[in-house]
Amino acid sequence: MTCKYGKHCCLYPGSFDPVTLGHLDIIRRAAGIFDTVVVGVLHNPDKQGCFSVEQRMDMLKRACEDIPNVEIIAWPGLLARLTQKTGIRVVVRGVRNGADLDSETTMAHINGQLDPGLETLFLPAAPGLADVSASMVRQLAQFGADISNYVPSQVLPDVLAAFDKP
Ligand code: PNS
Repeated sequence: MTCKYGKHCCLYPGSFDPVTLGHLDIIRRAAGIFDTVVVGVLHNPDKQGCFSVEQRMDMLKRACEDIPNVEIIAWPGLLARLTQKTGIRVVVRGVRNGADLDSETTMAHINGQLDPGLETLFLPAAPGLADVSASMVRQLAQFGADISNYVPSQVLPDVLAAFDKP
């Protein structure tokens, strides 16, 4: 099957609730490797959402506005169904530490079983961004701490407004 995004494309899936500087670093690096990076806003059943899917996509679009080869999409179902439907053959995931590597390896195996031939590539988090997570950002914002070192400047007002700390 031909991929609707071209041969040299990848999917970078996540909850992006909200997009962080760690996510943005992975998107930029993937965009330097692949012709097209499809950033997929997917549902993680283990996490309670804070922002709506539309808000997450809007924040991602603004954060990625200077990266021309990025497409932002939303998908409500299984990752493997998305890759089968689009023909995308490579998934990129960022890995921050050993715990991430363990859980991401399991996810890669399951996705590969559901969609045979699907490859998952891990990119190590950049030094300095390895401790950044969306859940940590949400928690800091909730208690009024400075989150400007952790989220793209374009989305900072959205996060502060969500926690009523403009
Ligand atoms: O940013 P996250 O929360 O680490 O991303 C996890 C995500 C959304 C990529 C994962 O939960 C996912 O793939 N959700 C879609 C449902 C699915 O395919 N689950 C099986 C994965 S083994």
